[in-house]
Amino acid sequence: MAPLWCVVPAAGRGTRVGGDLPKQYLPLAGRPLILHTLDRLAAHPLIAGLMVVLGAGDELWPSVGLLGSKPVLTAIGGAERCDSVLAGLNALPSGVGEDAFVLVHDAARPCVREADITRLIERGVLAGGGLLGAPLRDTLKRAGADGRSHETEPRDHRWRAFTPQMFRRGDLSQALRAASAAGVTVSDEAMAMERVGFSPLLVEGAEDNIKVTTAADFALAEFLLPRTK
Ligand code: CTP
Ligand code: MG
Repeated sequence: MAPLWCVVPAAGRGTRVGGDLPKQYLPLAGRPLILHTLDRLAAHPLIAGLMVVLGAGDELWPSVGLLGSKPVLTAIGGAERCDSVLAGLNALPSGVGEDAFVLVHDAARPCVREADITRLIERGVLAGGGLLGAPLRDTLKRAGADGRSHETEPRDHRWRAFTPQMFRRGDLSQALRAASAAGVTVSDEAMAMERVGFSPLLVEGAEDNIKVTTAADFALAEFLLPRTK
């Protein structure tokens, strides 16, 4: 199968980490977090190129033009993650057709495993689109404003959504535009696709594909990096 382009949203501010720099530029094992993620994506034989979506005025981007033999292009993102993903899709090379599948992967997930990306692509293509995720393992509580647990939610059929997510370029662009026109901030690509009536395939992936979200996650990601190769 022909290799796919991957859009990498990296236009966030990392407010929950609370560092001096956006989290994608904070050091992980001695290098900016984002470079670990990009290296891993570029090394995948089924990935053709990377479209990195940067924040407006980003002066920290190291101007990577090529990783291995893979082109690395950039676009400017927006206020929400979904705005950034749409900007990245719009900026893909014209050779990437509307029917072509594209991946979207968070810059903040450096520990994604090559085998999981392969499985998502192989299974997702047959299903018309899908995402990596994992069934919920813990018991889920509904919290009240009083900080007490008021109810236990059913766990059956509940999944956590990860990235990469994979859809056809045209379908995903349309779905993201429709959500935006309706004033809905979708939190992932699958949510945009669900809103227009498509049911993305859930492909179970390793739970160590963590999204680096807090300062403590840097130590965890550093531990996981060499173990998720
Ligand atoms: N992202 C983006 N554009 C935005 C917001 C987020 O491209 N307007 C990207 C982030 O850079 C990150 C990914 O989407 O790679 C997942 O978002 P998240 O983990 O929430 O990162 P931040 O928004 O940067 O962090 P926070 O929510 O703590 O501010
Ligand atoms: Mg965020």
